[in-house]
Amino acid sequence: MSNASVDHCPNEPLPEYAFIGRSNVGKSSLINMLTERKGLAKTSGRPGKTQLINHFKINGNWFLVDLPGYGYAKVSKKDKKTFQKYITNYFEQRKQLICTFVLVDIRHEPQKIDMEFMEWMGTAGIPFCIVFTKADKLKPKPIEKNVSLYLQQMLEGAWEETPLHFITSSGNGTGRDALLEYIDKVNQDFFKENA
Ligand code: GTP
Ligand code: MG
Repeated sequence: MSNASVDHCPNEPLPEYAFIGRSNVGKSSLINMLTERKGLAKTSGRPGKTQLINHFKINGNWFLVDLPGYGYAKVSKKDKKTFQKYITNYFEQRKQLICTFVLVDIRHEPQKIDMEFMEWMGTAGIPFCIVFTKADKLKPKPIEKNVSLYLQQMLEGAWEETPLHFITSSGNGTGRDALLEYIDKVNQDFFKENA
């Protein structure tokens, strides 16, 4: 199901997991990697592909949610707000949201817009994990170095502790098992509490 407003999202009390991050970071590709369905979420080499709030129901009892990216420079000035309102509405209002994955490209240093988004999430009290994407583009040593630099910079900034993080590649499947195991554990806790 695809929606431009949180009010129209599925009205079922099932746990959901949202994927957010800058345009082109690999949100839709990661959903396809996790589900092993290449064309499920629409992907593109050009940023700005995903435009709506997209719910994918998994095994009949939870949702993966693909969202538009933020920080896409090519949108018209009129529409250019750092984080589009319907996205912030989604995060502020969606009761079913139990975990958010904030995606960052493993090749880059911490970007201002990502830091601002995570600080906004922290202030709003919305829990999130960091997912480093495109790990196939780097060798193991630089992966390790970039990840520890990233987390270190968070600690030097606004954060007292670093969030849980995952290293992934939609290209070669790195991190798939770890992410699915984590989701499975969170789901199990959710269904226990809501039995
Ligand atoms: P928007 O919907 O525009 O916000 O982008 P998105 O974050 O959904 O990114 P998308 O999944 O469409 O991927 C953007 C580009 O990055 C595509 O060309 C993908 O093939 C590429 N890409 C995504 N994940 C990976 C990865 O793990 N490794 C490599 N090498 N390329 C990737
Ligand atoms: Mg997308």
